[in-house]
Amino acid sequence: MKFFVDTAEIDAIAELNDLGMVDGVTTNPSLIKKSGRDIIEVTKEICDLVDGPVSAEVTATDAETMIAEGRKLVEIAENIAVKVPLTWDGLKACKTLTDDGHMVNVTLCFSANQALLAAKAGASFISPFIGRLDDINLDGMELIEDIRTIYDNFGFETEILAASIRSVNHILDSARIGADVITAPPAVIKAMVNHPLTDKGLDAFLADIKAADIKIL
Ligand code: G3P
Repeated sequence: MKFFVDTAEIDAIAELNDLGMVDGVTTNPSLIKKSGRDIIEVTKEICDLVDGPVSAEVTATDAETMIAEGRKLVEIAENIAVKVPLTWDGLKACKTLTDDGHMVNVTLCFSANQALLAAKAGASFISPFIGRLDDINLDGMELIEDIRTIYDNFGFETEILAASIRSVNHILDSARIGADVITAPPAVIKAMVNHPLTDKGLDAFLADIKAADIKIL
């Protein structure tokens, strides 16, 4: 399973990247706003740091302008994936940009039918939003499962990029179901290391190290 980091914060990306935990990065207008940086400038910096796909989202809602924006975004670096919303115009832009040979991430997916359309339009990635479905008492994981089944039934190569991940359990469940990629905030990825028995066990070892004055160096 690939790990993408859902942020435009350079330091956070660099920390995880140094550990080999970053297979790509996803950004969106809200994350760019949070960074306070210029979209082109910060996206270039991310692309210079990370080898894998870096999603940068268009701002337009009509296909023609989305395509023009996409063509400008892909000039930033070879690893740009143009992110377009799951609308009819977004699908048109997806088809044109993928036909041009660019990676496209179709975002704001909330149904399996939408995911089916994105695959038909040649999307490289489909981004189902798990947390936002859970927020309205629907089951985000059920959507990931449905898309996995449908894509496998017909051999679609579009990668399932589980997004809007809010907890370590979202990551675990996505891995169990077989999502190709998860994108999560750095804090959620780092929280995967936590376990109370690890802390308890380490405390006991540290106490014995002190009691027995165990030294290696
Ligand atoms: O990249 C988009 C997605 O991950 C947003 O997450 O938490 O704002 O629903 P969230």
